[in-house]
Amino acid sequence: TKIFAYAIRKDEEPYLNEWKSAHKDIDVDYTGKLLTPDTAKLAKGADGVVVYQQLDYSADTLQALADVGVTKMSLRNVGVDNIDMKKAKELGFEITNVPVYSPDAIAEHAAIQAARILRQDKRMDAKMAKRDLRWAPTIGREVRDQVVGVVGTGHIGQVFMKIMEGFGAKVIAYDIYKNPELDKKGYYVDSLDDLYKQADVISLHVPDVPANVHMINDKSIKEMKDGVVIVNVSRGPLVDTDAVIRGLDSGKVFGFVMDTYEKEVGVFNKDWEGKEFPDKRLADLIDRPNVLVTPHTAFYTTHAVRNMVIRAFDNNLALVEGKKPASPVKLDA
Ligand code: NAD
Ligand code: COI
Repeated sequence: TKIFAYAIRKDEEPYLNEWKSAHKDIDVDYTGKLLTPDTAKLAKGADGVVVYQQLDYSADTLQALADVGVTKMSLRNVGVDNIDMKKAKELGFEITNVPVYSPDAIAEHAAIQAARILRQDKRMDAKMAKRDLRWAPTIGREVRDQVVGVVGTGHIGQVFMKIMEGFGAKVIAYDIYKNPELDKKGYYVDSLDDLYKQADVISLHVPDVPANVHMINDKSIKEMKDGVVIVNVSRGPLVDTDAVIRGLDSGKVFGFVMDTYEKEVGVFNKDWEGKEFPDKRLADLIDRPNVLVTPHTAFYTTHAVRNMVIRAFDNNLALVEGKKPASPVKLDA
């Protein structure tokens, strides 16, 4: 049995080696390259592939993989929005993801960044760097004084709720599917509009499905409270970035946490030092004192990366051995 892995980073190698040591009978090979129509041939002879990338698993890429006889593909991450599902189904692909590798990693990042915005940390850091040690006007807002509105109470949203409650905030939530436990405890408001009207901090924890694209837009921002903090560590397309910029410019939006961005593919996780930065709007956001941009690193912890690698290989082995994997992806999703 042979498994071939794509886009393995240095920080993933120890966990890949750990899995290899525990599965000495399995032939494991890998590359640092992404899976593309060109690199698909590297998987020739393998029974399955383990992958992670933000680049699309396009119809051409899937076809190229099927052409070398590989149709069992295991993602090391959660999001499956970059797979051409129609083509995958047509070619008889079996796909798995790792839906829960460490919701805490992402929730914790969202909570830390939201708190930093409320305390105006970026402004204070900039003052410190200039040796300006005056207090005013960089006064903070306490988390416990905020109503925190959580949109999406799945794996990550639920951990975020607990952390924010730990700070003492009042937490309200909205989900198109009400979790019975949370419902019993009275967290849910009836509509997104209600959440927008009541929340001082709004954090998105929903998937990037067509219905959710630009759910944060001029109209929704207008409904929000003055001085709202918006947090998006989920997916860039959920937010109309220009609308948030208009909100920041008018002062309606107090701060914006963005770990994901509509145009992040090809820009995030690259070193632009000394090179022409390709996105003026993003450069402007990075420079703003009340915007915290991170390049999709909410997930990026040792705990999460280990689980992503080990669980993806476990899933792929199950697929190639004809067993039921822990987390199959529904191709008609
Ligand atoms: P999940 O599937 O466990 O939960 C998502 C929840 O959103 C579900 O309860 C669903 O019913 C709800 N939902 C869907 N549409 C909604 C809507 N319009 N309004 C209200 N609720 C809605 O997902 P998760 O694992 O918690 O992931 C949440 C988000 O985090 C996803 O977008 C995922 O891609 C993203 N994510 C980001 C990172 C990162 O590093 N930044 C890492 C992993 C996941
Ligand atoms: C996911 O797991 O879907 C993420 O968003 C994190 C990814 C950058 C590895």
